[in-house]
Amino acid sequence: PARPPARDTVPRVLAGDYSHLAVDPLARLEQMRARAALGGGEARIAQQHAKGKLTARERIDLLLDDGSFTELGAFVTARSDDLGAPLGDGVVTGFGRIDGRLVYVFSQDFTVFGGSLAEAHAEKICKVMDLAVRNGAPIIGLNDSGGARIQEGVVSLGGYADVFLRNVLASGVVPQLSAILGPCAGGAVYSPAITDFVAMVRDTSYLFVTGPDVTRTVTHEEVTFDELGGADVHATRSGVAHFESADEPACLALLRTLAGYLPSNNLDPAPVVPTDDPVERADPELDAVVPAAPSKPYDMREVIRRVVDDGASLEVHEGWARNILCAFARLDGRTVGVVAQQPLVLAGVLDIDASVKAARFVRFCDAFNIPLVTFVDVPGFLPGTDQEHRGIIRNGAKLLYAYAEATVPKLTVITRKAYGGAYDVMSSKHLRGDWNVAWPGAEIAVMGPEGAVNILHRAELAAAADPEARRRELVRDYVERFANPYVAASRGYLDDVIEPHETRPRLIAALRSLAGKRDANPRKKHGNIPL
Ligand code: HXC
Repeated sequence: PARPPARDTVPRVLAGDYSHLAVDPLARLEQMRARAALGGGEARIAQQHAKGKLTARERIDLLLDDGSFTELGAFVTARSDDLGAPLGDGVVTGFGRIDGRLVYVFSQDFTVFGGSLAEAHAEKICKVMDLAVRNGAPIIGLNDSGGARIQEGVVSLGGYADVFLRNVLASGVVPQLSAILGPCAGGAVYSPAITDFVAMVRDTSYLFVTGPDVTRTVTHEEVTFDELGGADVHATRSGVAHFESADEPACLALLRTLAGYLPSNNLDPAPVVPTDDPVERADPELDAVVPAAPSKPYDMREVIRRVVDDGASLEVHEGWARNILCAFARLDGRTVGVVAQQPLVLAGVLDIDASVKAARFVRFCDAFNIPLVTFVDVPGFLPGTDQEHRGIIRNGAKLLYAYAEATVPKLTVITRKAYGGAYDVMSSKHLRGDWNVAWPGAEIAVMGPEGAVNILHRAELAAAADPEARRRELVRDYVERFANPYVAASRGYLDDVIEPHETRPRLIAALRSLAGKRDANPRKKHGNIPL
């Protein structure tokens, strides 16, 4: 390394003359930058590309606005005496912009020790996390890591715990987004798991606590990377991944779209995106969406599409627990979180996965002051031993808890059924719903007509001369008396009964009226959601 210039050489250096020094500092800086940019070297970059993966820096370029990235800590190396150690220690960190808004980023570099996390690597991640929280900007992690760096032992484990702690402390303060862009094993899974959203790429990204080799040794199961923890598995079966993309550019573009819906932190509002979609737009097609037959399904996505600005939304957990829909969309240019039953899947019943999926989404929206718009068409909770034994009580309670504790504006439209406990759960007036309405054909009751008639009139039906005719009569009577929106409306549990075509203007008017909503929960350390 060059010695610092002696006093009499300072004027020469100031004049840009380094010729007296053993190493020209500018040339050295250039060399260092070139070394840092190469990470683990050209051969490993070629390997990365051959696997269909991008490098850590290429990913950052796609994620951020052009030329907006400022790197921090490019010259950090692993704690060792080896001056040839790769610069950056396997992670590129810094800040940049998405649509002009500040975000902090770390991007693990698989070409350096398999992106494994060690002391210096962890310190770099912690530094940008601390900056993100201090400056109220989202943290985006691009993960591609073999987990704890084996050579650094417990220091790597400590590094992970330092990151986990920050994930937890940042939760609810700034949005945390994770992309999984390679094999993420061991400790590499738990930081993304704590973050708000996890995006994966089909065929090149994996998440597992222990890989196929260890699995074989311990459980004697033969399983491939894909079968154990591929994007499909996590986006459709485990629910660990909220988004699945076909390739890395699509995944990074999705993160940009997602960030566009979110506020930078829990105090700032989400960005307002002006739209040409008229506030007063009525949609006559909505009047025909719900079929006359109460058990006939329809696509609730169509309802959402016809109501929100420009028909645009971003679905979260699209492939998992498909009987409930969770999506970000905009009304009047402002972000809303939409939760809705999907009658096309399991008749929109609430089961364990649907409850967990929606509960987490509701809590995210509440933490970041995003109003909730709920479309209800729910026949109830899913009966059966499988659900009961796996804890539908404990898990269904999560959604109930999430809606009840949420203090953001809560708007609810019952499009058809709202039966039993599920009526209560789905953002009802009783859980501090701000604006609750139903479409005219809504059925709101303790249970559906058939079940109710069987229970209430069992003896009479058994004795009837023509039980079927009598049952039909009783069902008609029940629908007339109970399975309509007017009993709830007469109690004030509904604020109005609206026609489907006027849903958009009415929702927007209600949303505007709630712009200054202030509500709070009792002071406490934290609640105890039934986990
Ligand atoms: C050090 C590692 C490493 C690690 C990979 N490498 N993982 N170096 N520590 N954890 C190195 C490899 O030695 C190799 O270096 C290079 O990265 C690329 O790895 P490959 O195995 O050639 O790549 P690939 O075939 O794509 O397989 C990727 C992989 C596999 C699936 C991630 O490397 C793997 O299984 N790694 C170990 C995963 C793991 O068990 N990690 C520890 C978990 S314990 P060379 O120089 O040979 O190319 C943990 C505890 C934290 O994380 C707990 C906190 C809660």
